[in-house]
Amino acid sequence: MNLLVLGRGKTGSLVAEIAAERRHHVRAVGAKENADCSALSHASLSGIDCVIDFTAPHCVIPHIEACVKAGKNMVVGTTGWYKDVGHVRSLVEQHQTGFVYAPNFSVGVNLFLDIVRSAAAALQHEYSGQIFERHHVHKKDAPSGTAIALQRVIREASGKNEDLEITSFREGEVVGLHEVVLESAGDRIYLCHDAKSRRGFAEGAVRAAEWLAGKKGFYDFKDVWREL
Ligand SMILES: NC(=O)c1ccc[n+]([C@@H]2O[C@H](COP(=O)([O-])OP(=O)(O)OC[C@H]3O[C@@H](n4cnc5c(N)ncnc54)[C@H](OP(=O)(O)O)[C@@H]3O)[C@@H](O)[C@H]2O)c1
Repeated sequence: MNLLVLGRGKTGSLVAEIAAERRHHVRAVGAKENADCSALSHASLSGIDCVIDFTAPHCVIPHIEACVKAGKNMVVGTTGWYKDVGHVRSLVEQHQTGFVYAPNFSVGVNLFLDIVRSAAAALQHEYSGQIFERHHVHKKDAPSGTAIALQRVIREASGKNEDLEITSFREGEVVGLHEVVLESAGDRIYLCHDAKSRRGFAEGAVRAAEWLAGKKGFYDFKDVWREL
C-alpha cells in the first residue's frame, strides 16, 4: 500500500518503520511539512491508499476533514478528539470513505477491555471500583483515551449510571499502564495492562490500514481487531 503517516513523533515514527518492514511504501510528515494541512491537498494525497494519524488533539480534526473530503481512508490513533466523534462519523458516511479509530491500537489492550467488561459484573455485587492510568510526562491529554474507554466499557457492562473515578499519573517515560481495581468488603481484584513498548500500538495501526483496504465505513478498532 501507499501510506502517508502524519506525525513523526514517538508513535508515528514507529508506525512508519513497521509499515516499511511490512513492505508498504510509506512517507511520514511532521508539523512543519504539514502546516495548515499543506500536505493534505487533493494533489498531495493523490495515489495515497490510507493516511495514518498519530499527531495531537489540536490538529487532528482539520487532518480528518481534509483527508475524508479528499476521499481517503484513514486510521486515527491520535486521542483527545472524541467529543467530535459524531461529526467525524457523518463526514465519513457522507464521503463514503473508510475510517478506523481507537484510543489504543494494541491487541493486548483490546483483550484487556474484554476482560474488564466481564469483571464489571462485580459492580452488581457490592463492589466499588477505581481506574488508575500512568503515562510519560510528555502526554498532552488526561485522562488517557484508554482510561476513558475502560470507564465506558465498565459503565455499559455493569448497567450502573455512575462512572468509576479515573486517577491519572504522569511520570518519567512510562509507555502506558492501566489498572482497574474492584473492591468489596471481603476482597480486592486487580486488573492491569502494562505496555512494554509502543510497538503494539504501531503494529495494530498498520494492520488496521491493511484491513481497511477496499472497505468503506466508520469502525472502532475494538470491533475489528479479531479480524486482522
Ligand atoms: N491509539 C493508540 O494506540 C495510541 C498510542 C500511542 C499514542 N497515541 C496518541 O497519538 C498521539 C501522538 O502520540 P505520540 O506519543 O507519538 O506524540 P509525540 O511524540 O508528541 O508526536 C506527535 C507528533 O505529531 C507531530 N505533529 C503535530 N502537529 C502536526 C501536524 N499538523 N501535521 C503533522 N504532524 C504533526 C509532531 O511534530 P513536531 O515534533 O514537529 O511538532 C510530533 O512529531 C497522541 O494523541 C497520543 O495520545 C495513541
